[in-house]
Amino acid sequence: MQKSNVYIETYGCQMNVADTEIVQGILANKGYDLTEDINNADVVLLNTCSIRENAEQRIYGRLGNIKTLKTGKPNLVIGILGCMAERLRTDLVEDKKIVDLVVGPDEYRRLPEFIDTAFAGEKGIGVKLSKTETYDDLIPFRANDDGLSAWISVMRGCDKFCTFCVVPFTRGRERSRSLESVVNEVKQLSNQGYKEVTLLGQNVNSYDDNGRDFADLLAAVAVVDRNVRVRFSTSHPQDFSDKLLYTISEHPNLCNYIHLPVQSGSNRILELMNRTYSIEHYLTIIEKARKIIPGVSFSTDIISGFPTETYEDHLATLEVMRQVRYDGAYMFKYSPREGTKAYRMNDDVDEETKSKRLTEIIDEQQKISFEINQELIGKEEVILIEGFSKKSNEFLAGRTDTNKVAIIPAEQNIEKGDYVKVKITKATSGTLFADVLKKVDLTIEEKHKTA
Ligand code: 5AD
Ligand code: SF4
Repeated sequence: MQKSNVYIETYGCQMNVADTEIVQGILANKGYDLTEDINNADVVLLNTCSIRENAEQRIYGRLGNIKTLKTGKPNLVIGILGCMAERLRTDLVEDKKIVDLVVGPDEYRRLPEFIDTAFAGEKGIGVKLSKTETYDDLIPFRANDDGLSAWISVMRGCDKFCTFCVVPFTRGRERSRSLESVVNEVKQLSNQGYKEVTLLGQNVNSYDDNGRDFADLLAAVAVVDRNVRVRFSTSHPQDFSDKLLYTISEHPNLCNYIHLPVQSGSNRILELMNRTYSIEHYLTIIEKARKIIPGVSFSTDIISGFPTETYEDHLATLEVMRQVRYDGAYMFKYSPREGTKAYRMNDDVDEETKSKRLTEIIDEQQKISFEINQELIGKEEVILIEGFSKKSNEFLAGRTDTNKVAIIPAEQNIEKGDYVKVKITKATSGTLFADVLKKVDLTIEEKHKTA
């Protein structure tokens, strides 16, 4: 077989980044070469995202560019992977005739077969969703990452059916990998010198491997190597257990950082979103977490302009932001997605109002992030060094336990992968600046708390 070069572009969330690594693992096993140069590719794959309208628009735009490559290379295979596959197969393959290959998130094992079909001049289409596929046994090919920090998908799909969200339709039902396979992957990564893993799932808190829950998984991962930091994302407030909070507080290398999407501050809107919690309940979780895990910080997702959202609802969202004081937030304008329940509601908040409210939300978050970071001045943090800072080789950049970037002056004995205790001297809303105190070992360092 002649070797083919495959080029992959990844869009959307970290789950897609992790999926691309699974796909690269599958292809590399079959003898394909991976290339980072699109002009050198025989197969161009886009791993796509459907979460908001503009994500899909971007990919259509990109396909338009890529199509021109076919003029000089008629045998070039163009393929769509990921969340757009199931939704837009007809549109992409039959109506627009742009792509040769459409493969959804649960059919990646068969990708080599579909590529062969496409090389033979037929359309390669695999968009079935599975109740069981977790790619448990596959080793992701981490070609493009930094050798320091790895994403590990521990569960797939989502059963929550928030009314705005297309994920339950594009990625199917919830299913979890086995605890052992995740632990083995972490062992391998630790042996390869990785220092940080992030366990991923649309809703990691509903992880279930024959009765072993997410707290059990976190505890098992945490003891693999105390010098590997463990993060996780995303948590749904409904499944958030006290056991999980105690687990985080017990293990020094489980990061004190929780991404807990609130979406809206209004109970009426939360109900229309089918989020299944009230703001009061949400705030109880935050309060409990702060008691059990001193120094814990939070980030969130917020949607502005959901159908029927009034100015009062919007004020309630701003109010919740002030109460929780998130370290960071991902903030979006509501975007109707076909097939979801909210799609049948009237998208009645006009564009201008959505934008105005979103700007207010972003400004509020900026202000809070700035204040929180100012309060850190004079405090000590342990950071994991990621390399030189983007701006200069005279500085190193690292991340705190709570996921903030901190910049320190470069020193000869400090390098990528080291844990360093630092003292914060200056801060903006996005970056901390610090002085070095000493190199540390997470094994012996007590659970780091903001002193
Ligand atoms: N419109 C806007 N934002 C959305 N999200 C999911 N679906 C939509 C939508 N239709 C946001 C939610 C979710 C994050 C991953 O994306 O805030 O938590
Ligand atoms: Fe979408 Fe809600 Fe599932 Fe998150 S929990 S993926 S927002 S349906």
